[in-house]
Amino acid sequence: MAAPSIALATVLLLSLASPATSCSEQEMSSLLQFLAGLSEHNGLSASWRNGTDCCKWEGITCSADGMVIEIFLASRGLEGSISPSLADLSNLQRLNLSYNSFSGGLPSELLTSNIIIFLDVSFNQLSRVLQQNLSSSVPDHRSLQVLNISSNLFTGEFPSILWENKFNLVVLNASNNSFQGWMPSSFCISSTSFAELDLSYNQFSGSIPSGLGKCSALRVLKAGHNNLNRTLPDELFNVSSLEYLSFPDNGLRGILDGAHMMNLRNLAILDLGGNMLNGKIPDSIGELKRLKELRLGYNDMFGGLPSALSNCTNLIAIDLKGNYFSGKLTSVNFTSLINLEVLDLLYNNFTGNIPESIYLCSKLVALRLSGNNLHGQLSLRIANLKSLIFLSLSYNNFTNITNALHGLKDCKNLTVLFVRGSFIGEAMPEDEKIDGFQNLQILSISECSLSGTIPLWLSNLKNLVMLFLYMNQLRGPVPAWIKSLNSLFYLDISHNNLAGEIPTALMEMPMLPTILLDPRVFGLPVYADPSHQTRITSAFPIVLNLAYNNLTGVIPQEIGQMKSLTALNFSYNSLSGEIPPQLCSLTNLQVLDLSNNILTGAIPSALSNMHFLSAINVSNNDLEGPIPTGGQFSTFTNSSFAGNPKLCGIIVDRHCGTAEPPPVPTPSTEKTDRRVAFAIAFSVFFGLGVLYDQIVVSRYFG
Ligand SMILES: *[C@@H]1O[C@H](CO)[C@@H](O)[C@H](O)[C@H]1NC(C)=O
Ligand SMILES: *[C@@H]1O[C@H](CO)[C@@H](O)[C@H](O)[C@H]1NC(C)=O
Ligand SMILES: *[C@@H]1O[C@H](CO)[C@@H](O)[C@H](O)[C@H]1NC(C)=O
Ligand SMILES: *[C@@H]1O[C@H](CO)[C@@H](O)[C@H](O)[C@H]1NC(C)=O
Ligand SMILES: *[C@@H]1O[C@H](CO)[C@@H](O)[C@H](O)[C@H]1NC(C)=O
Ligand SMILES: *[C@@H]1O[C@H](CO)[C@@H](O)[C@H](O)[C@H]1NC(C)=O
Ligand SMILES: *[C@@H]1O[C@H](CO)[C@@H](O)[C@H](O)[C@H]1NC(C)=O
Ligand SMILES: *[C@@H]1O[C@H](CO)[C@@H](O)[C@H](O)[C@H]1NC(C)=O
Ligand SMILES: *[C@@H]1O[C@H](CO)[C@@H](O)[C@H](O)[C@H]1NC(C)=O
Ligand SMILES: *[C@@H]1O[C@H](CO)[C@@H](O)[C@H](O)[C@H]1NC(C)=O
Ligand SMILES: *[C@@H]1O[C@H](CO)[C@@H](O)[C@H](O)[C@H]1NC(C)=O
Ligand SMILES: *[C@@H]1O[C@H](CO)[C@@H](O)[C@H](O)[C@H]1NC(C)=O
Repeated sequence: MAAPSIALATVLLLSLASPATSCSEQEMSSLLQFLAGLSEHNGLSASWRNGTDCCKWEGITCSADGMVIEIFLASRGLEGSISPSLADLSNLQRLNLSYNSFSGGLPSELLTSNIIIFLDVSFNQLSRVLQQNLSSSVPDHRSLQVLNISSNLFTGEFPSILWENKFNLVVLNASNNSFQGWMPSSFCISSTSFAELDLSYNQFSGSIPSGLGKCSALRVLKAGHNNLNRTLPDELFNVSSLEYLSFPDNGLRGILDGAHMMNLRNLAILDLGGNMLNGKIPDSIGELKRLKELRLGYNDMFGGLPSALSNCTNLIAIDLKGNYFSGKLTSVNFTSLINLEVLDLLYNNFTGNIPESIYLCSKLVALRLSGNNLHGQLSLRIANLKSLIFLSLSYNNFTNITNALHGLKDCKNLTVLFVRGSFIGEAMPEDEKIDGFQNLQILSISECSLSGTIPLWLSNLKNLVMLFLYMNQLRGPVPAWIKSLNSLFYLDISHNNLAGEIPTALMEMPMLPTILLDPRVFGLPVYADPSHQTRITSAFPIVLNLAYNNLTGVIPQEIGQMKSLTALNFSYNSLSGEIPPQLCSLTNLQVLDLSNNILTGAIPSALSNMHFLSAINVSNNDLEGPIPTGGQFSTFTNSSFAGNPKLCGIIVDRHCGTAEPPPVPTPSTEKTDRRVAFAIAFSVFFGLGVLYDQIVVSRYFG
């Protein structure tokens, strides 16, 4: 009988050591009721045992006199309902149940308690509409100051009656639910200290309530990603305490009124991107001396950049993409914007040169000027932008690409460089002195109609993962040294005048997707693992595109080594000989285009074993014999094989006689489903040819 006496002694010792901290029977009972409401307690009951001191239970904190003051059970894997019994804990001030799987309703007793100050039930699956009719017997003093019900499944109208009076709320986060109807507005009737409201990612519609103008202490107001579709109410601009004003991706209309705007002197973040605002950026923007982020992208705004912007010396990010802004960039003196890291002017109508003063913004990380009417040469002083990671100059009328590359090669941190549809008709710089670009990973010099050859200096860019040189007029061979670009997994040199044979050395490229991009820039890690932002997802295509050139000779048998390829396009060349059977070992291939060559012989029947192949085009060659059947081939149509008069089979409606090959079994449904998904993903590639990478890449990079 040693064990029970030791246990007894332990209990005695503990109670002797801290006699005052053991919790009351009543409090323990409230907690056990909560435990009983759980359908999955994930081991919590090992610690929460009846008869033991609940102040020592996991997640419980007591005051010196043994009253439960805090329950912290975030990320504990709990499921079930939240028991209203927690409201019986008469000293509970902080309750944090975030990141679990609680479902059902949020007991109104917790909201109307006159003790609880912090209530965080975010990231659960609570769904029941918060109660609308709290009885008037509720005590007048409601203590709740911070309420986080974000990322649950709440629906319906926001129960604003809850907040009409008696509340002293300071912070409310109700983002990422499915609340509908009007945005609630009456927070500040009773609470003069209301400071933060986040209603983003809901379905609120109509106008932003003018009642928010009464919130004299409001610092943060976020309601992005809703359906708010009226104008910004004038009253909102009375709230001079505002530091963070964010309504992206709504349908807001109207203009930014200069006279009102200047009241928001404390504003640090203004995000109104993705709305339907029009009008100009008011000159009074210069009064917002604390402004760090100005985001007005994707609206219908026009006019020039106000020179007063130079006075916002704390600006870190300016995003004006997708508007109708025009005029010269020189209207702003960028010299004073020494903190600027991101300048995004994609798709506007700016004219003139790049102002010299931009080259003094030495903290610039991302500069996107694509899709404007800028012209002239880049200054060699662009080499001052030592922090630059991302630069896009695409679709402008810049001149002297040699000069531009010489300036940029010393931007040691440059990772992504887009030069598309600019420097039209110039010569590809072949100068060996272009020897920098140590960290360049993605390079596009495409749609420029450049003459010349694929330049040798590219062979020094050992970190390249994607290289786009399509739609130029490059002549000469495909150089064998491309294989030394060990990290490359996307090569598109289509639509040029390249001639000669496909070098077998090219087939030695490992083509393995790894990429490391700085997540600060334009949400670049669209391609990367969202949690680590370093690895590309396997969904990203691994591409070799040599289409629309003047290549001759045979398809090297060594093609079978490029096992990771997902898309191979050799179409529109003058390739001859047979389709090498080794192609069939490219088991990841989803798209194969060998059309419009002069290939002869039979289609290797093993091609029908390539389970992921969702599109094939061998049309307009001189192939002969039976078209393989079964497998993926059961899904292809006539157009994949047209223009080969000697091919036979059901697909082309030409009988093969005795040489009919045995059918391969059709793939399982699972594989068919995957194939369909790939087919959708790649139909763009197939349908639009080279436009594919523009869409994928420019959508995110510009
Ligand atoms: C806890 O133990 C007490 C006394 O043993 C008992 O009365 C009570 O019902 C128990 N509570 C629960 C929830 O089991
Ligand atoms: C609740 O806990 C989570 C996880 O530790 C934490 O991120 C959050 O800030 C807490 N909530 C409050 C209101 O302190
Ligand atoms: C409103 O209050 C009544 C009585 O107090 C209650 O029966 C009813 O369930 C409440 N309705 C809602 C939606 O909470
Ligand atoms: C919930 O929101 C509050 C207020 O914004 C915040 O302090 C808390 O960290 C949030 N909780 C989580 C889990 O993010
Ligand atoms: C705003 O949206 C509602 C529906 O969500 C619609 O009825 C109303 O006409 C819209 N108002 C404007 C100004 O577009
Ligand atoms: C910047 O502010 C100063 C004083 O605050 C003012 O005199 C000047 O005109 C402003 N500059 C511009 C370009 O608006
Ligand atoms: C731009 O501002 C800097 C200082 O902020 C000043 O020295 C320079 O003269 C200004 N340039 C122009 C063109 O106004
Ligand atoms: C861009 O500016 C040019 C002249 O500067 C004008 O003709 C053209 O209509 C503008 N385009 C748009 C979309 O505003
Ligand atoms: C360049 O990148 C490195 C590594 O990310 C960083 O430590 C360094 O500060 C950057 N240089 C500049 C000038 O921003
Ligand atoms: C581009 O610039 C060149 C020379 O500066 C000029 O001749 C040409 O008209 C410009 N093209 C467009 C579309 O602005
Ligand atoms: C282009 O830039 C190079 C190098 O900076 C320079 O030598 C050359 O004169 C420039 N060409 C033209 C036409 O301006
Ligand atoms: C393709 O190459 C052949 C000879 O190899 C040449 O006659 C023809 O002009 C070239 N076509 C083009 C478009 O360069």
